[in-house]
Amino acid sequence: MMTRSMTRISRAALGHVGARYFSITALHGGVACDVQAHRGVLGGAANFFHGNPAKNSENMVVAWMRLPAVGARNASTVSLGEKQQEDEKKVQGGATSGASAGGENNNKGIVSYWGVEPAKITKEDGTEWRWNCFKPWETYKADLSIDLKKHHAPVTFLDKVAYWTVKSLRYPTDIFFQRRYGCRAMMLETVAAVPGMVGGLLLHCKSLRRFEHSGGWIKALLEEAENERMHLMTFMEVSQPKWYERALVFTVQGVFFNAYFLTYLVSPKLAHRIVGYLEEEAIHSYTEFLKELDKGTIENVPAPAIAIDYWRLPPDSTLRDVVIVVRADEAHHRDVNHFASDIHYQGHELKKAPAPIGYH
Ligand SMILES: [Fe+2]
Ligand SMILES: [Fe+2]
Repeated sequence: MMTRSMTRISRAALGHVGARYFSITALHGGVACDVQAHRGVLGGAANFFHGNPAKNSENMVVAWMRLPAVGARNASTVSLGEKQQEDEKKVQGGATSGASAGGENNNKGIVSYWGVEPAKITKEDGTEWRWNCFKPWETYKADLSIDLKKHHAPVTFLDKVAYWTVKSLRYPTDIFFQRRYGCRAMMLETVAAVPGMVGGLLLHCKSLRRFEHSGGWIKALLEEAENERMHLMTFMEVSQPKWYERALVFTVQGVFFNAYFLTYLVSPKLAHRIVGYLEEEAIHSYTEFLKELDKGTIENVPAPAIAIDYWRLPPDSTLRDVVIVVRADEAHHRDVNHFASDIHYQGHELKKAPAPIGYH
């Protein structure tokens, strides 16, 4: 009796890990995922538990690094026949090579029986929308009337902690990047896109835990994160990271995500204040960037296509125009985060004050 129920529990457990293992085996050695697609899922899971432990730990490491990118796809094609998988591999191969050229729209049919068809999206002038990474209704004209000089004077102890934390982070940044503002902007956006996502995630979980509304703050913070990520997608069109810069981003993200997560849990008013000051620094950096462009030390190249569509810029816009709209975005982030911190300072939760609308 005992043995039979243990067997049932084991089967259920293997059923859950099966799809995951399916991805892990496929990833080993960097071989394309379809190579081992026909392997039995349960058989694979049994190997996972009873095979060579050293090899398995190696698989696990590889899976940690690469599973998010391909795992879901592997799992979703488990039930497809071999012919369908072959067809899909061919189509996916074509789509991937095109997508790497800047996220352009590749509406080549993906073979799948799930019935999910790519939507035909057009611009206002009727031409086809070429981006998969954002849609026409997510584009906007930046509000350039915003006051760029506004500053929150640190008064309380926590304000001073936030202020000096950000100031102390600026010195190593200045030393590392010097006056390479294109590279600096790209690298800093990899950090700037983290706080909104962490804050939004924590408010989301809080809303679920407490069965309560968020006042629109979850969306506002997630939109901020997305907007920052679009800054990154734009700047990587004009500056490509070197291998050691990628390594730096990898390390900094690991540290900063966890540090900000813990800070937000302990003191959201400190966390938002830190971001408010980070945004003030971002405004300063982009102002310096503009000075270098005006001096001619950085070439004022044509604006990347993604920026022209995202900020609805004129077709003949330049990098200078892009920096101006990005700086305006940063000023909005500054206001939202200082405002969020003020709400906490006044003893309220964010849901008590409706989240600002249109503050990307
Ligand atoms: Fe940004
Ligand atoms: Fe920002």
